[in-house]
Amino acid sequence: MFSQAGGVIFQYNQRMPEATSVSLRDLDIEHLWHGNLQHKDLKKRPPLEVASAEGCYVFDTEGRRYLDAMAGLFCVNVGYGRKEIVNAVAKQMAELPYYPLTQSHGPAARLAARVAGLLPKPLGRVFFSNSGSEAVETALKMARQCSRRMHPGQNRYKVIARHRGYHGFTMGALSATGQAPRRQAFEPLVPGFLHVAPPDHYRCGFCSAQSTCTLSCADEFERVIRMEAPETVAAIIAEPVIGGGGILPDPEGYLARLREICDRHGVLLIVDEVITGFGRTGKLFGFEHSGIRPDILTFAKGLTSAYLPLGATVAAEHVFEAFEDDGGEAKFTQVSTFGGHPCSAAAALANLDILTRERLWENSARLGGYLLEKLTALESPHIGEVRGRGLLIGLELVEDQRSKTPLAEGRMIQLQRAFRESGVLVGRNNDSVTGFCNVLILSPPLILNREQADVIISAIESNIARV
Ligand SMILES: Cc1ncc(COP(=O)(O)O)c(C=O)c1O
Repeated sequence: MFSQAGGVIFQYNQRMPEATSVSLRDLDIEHLWHGNLQHKDLKKRPPLEVASAEGCYVFDTEGRRYLDAMAGLFCVNVGYGRKEIVNAVAKQMAELPYYPLTQSHGPAARLAARVAGLLPKPLGRVFFSNSGSEAVETALKMARQCSRRMHPGQNRYKVIARHRGYHGFTMGALSATGQAPRRQAFEPLVPGFLHVAPPDHYRCGFCSAQSTCTLSCADEFERVIRMEAPETVAAIIAEPVIGGGGILPDPEGYLARLREICDRHGVLLIVDEVITGFGRTGKLFGFEHSGIRPDILTFAKGLTSAYLPLGATVAAEHVFEAFEDDGGEAKFTQVSTFGGHPCSAAAALANLDILTRERLWENSARLGGYLLEKLTALESPHIGEVRGRGLLIGLELVEDQRSKTPLAEGRMIQLQRAFRESGVLVGRNNDSVTGFCNVLILSPPLILNREQADVIISAIESNIARV
């Protein structure tokens, strides 16, 4: 209700409508604001209302079962319904529901040590936040502050990222993001962010005419560093596999080339493992495929398998030490009320127990390889390229293979609906690159079995055949 002056009059005694008289769907449509959805369409096409979940499946309010081939949003790595995590969180909630990390508590300290123990040296210093965006935001701030300390007299603040990369919705992380449709409405963003072309085997503009990959797309970083002047550049940021931007895995040697470039110019290498961390790509961490060591890592999603929100930024010792070497004057000037929340840390510890006990990255490699092989063998004029690493797979759909014209938006929307109708939830790189949102995405829980993989394959085969 609005007053004549246009202000809202709150009716404190107004009772919440009972779920029996007003449907949850109506409450949603009247009051929830969903990101990245056009609300005027929601009445006609309401979002899937999920009521419960178990293993690789989610169930809607009518009890209909869907195979969740997206693990929520690339995140429920150990699958739904793990009582071990629920019990750990309940116990923590009863014991100590909250305390800030301006002081300390056991779950955060234990989790920091646990994460450090899973990583190779010198990666071992963990800063907690609440999400992937915050983990990236923290990494960017750490890199700027650290670079100025490591290179006295220089003003190193620029960050170079890739087009199509996604790093989050907060202003810094969004500035690193190379997806115009996600950025445009909020520009101008933070100054000092530059973008280079991503590795894109299917539409490579660098070396597609040659017999082998020359890694020219990686060398672009060095060209930009030289043109901008190295003494102004703080960091490079990259995902090991571009995820939401359309599943673009790094070619062999790519991260190693970035490492060399960074070392040559005193630039920090931030590897964004928000999707790829904790088993998604068939190894525990995405950077492990390359044999290099990043300076800073970012985690979220798979850290708790999304049972509770948690982000983590892990710095190598030399990054941490840059804040220690002047008699205690310098500190990383950031405080987070909820970052490292004891209940989220307890969820993460239980999640990592499951993940490591069941060695789920191995299942990710096995089933990912199986899916990749079977999907590559599908015969359809609309499948341009199938690509991925572990259980992170993309199918780039085209009108026809010769022209490589992206499959029309209307057909992509239809196709995604058809998947939902057939009981399999498949993702897509929605609103990520103008004209190229034609990549279907698979990122199921890492507990996926062969039978479930076959269900995904046959849903893809039959629905694409009807395009
Ligand atoms: C690589 C990457 N970085 C950062 C983020 C941001 O994470 P969040 O949505 O938890 O803020 C995402 C989200 O999908 C991501 O894929």
